[in-house]
Amino acid sequence: MEITGSATRVNGALLPRPEQLDEELRHGRLAYLFTRRYLEKWSRLRETFPEKGRLADFPAVHVEIGCGRAKNLINLSPQQPHTLYIGTERDNHRFQAASRRAERLARPNLLILRRDVVPLVAFNFPDSTVDEYDLFYPDPWPRYRHRRRRWYRHPFVLELLRTLKQGGSIRLTSDRLFYVQEAAWMFGVYLNCRLELLEHVQVHSNRTHFESKYLQQGRRLYELVVRKTGDPPADVVELQPARNRVCTAGENPWGRG
Ligand SMILES: C[S@@+](CC[C@H](N)C(=O)[O-])C[C@H]1O[C@@H](n2cnc3c(N)ncnc32)[C@H](O)[C@@H]1O
Repeated sequence: MEITGSATRVNGALLPRPEQLDEELRHGRLAYLFTRRYLEKWSRLRETFPEKGRLADFPAVHVEIGCGRAKNLINLSPQQPHTLYIGTERDNHRFQAASRRAERLARPNLLILRRDVVPLVAFNFPDSTVDEYDLFYPDPWPRYRHRRRRWYRHPFVLELLRTLKQGGSIRLTSDRLFYVQEAAWMFGVYLNCRLELLEHVQVHSNRTHFESKYLQQGRRLYELVVRKTGDPPADVVELQPARNRVCTAGENPWGRG
């Protein structure tokens, strides 16, 4: 797929400064991404995916991770009937609510799965399958000792990129600024992605239940969109900072003062 020259909308004030990042991220000490130990753990409980054939039935595939009650997918799916919308949700209560609504609507291009997305994607999705991944308001894992559980710092991020088509995108929203800043750095500096959007979420936005709830509480919300522009790194040697230079404190790879 050709990478479209879609407009970028990046609010420079929201870009991360290297000194705001912890050393592991700033200096790219990310060899653990390639250990694949987590895959051994997941291989013991592989998620089945009998609906796999449907991936090839549609020219475009849009996956929402942790879709909750699937409000976003239920709104999007009638707009693009040639796109297959897949929502994955591991919480049973939220899944039941989503799947009841989806069953009532009976749209051929909407699939709600009660699955953990990690083994589902890692063991069942072929390379270059997905056009868009959405991650709306995931747990930010704010404690430092949990930093590798954040989606963009977990080894699973390489599976997201493997399964994304060239030119495909990942959308990430959060009520925590540090979260989208770190993600922007990780995708932009190490993972061959182009930063296309880094903005506040509009106050009248209403895409998901958490979004509506947070905005009603008056919280500021942030959104990041990155686009895949190259192959994901296959080993740590390929995981080099963009622009072939190591960033040190005080330097800024975004070119901002
Ligand atoms: C904070 S909620 C946000 C729900 C929804 N995206 C929204 O904005 O209303 C995060 C959701 O992600 C789901 N989740 C977390 N990790 C997951 C995983 N590995 N696979 C599938 N769902 C996951 C949780 O069950 C939870 O429902």
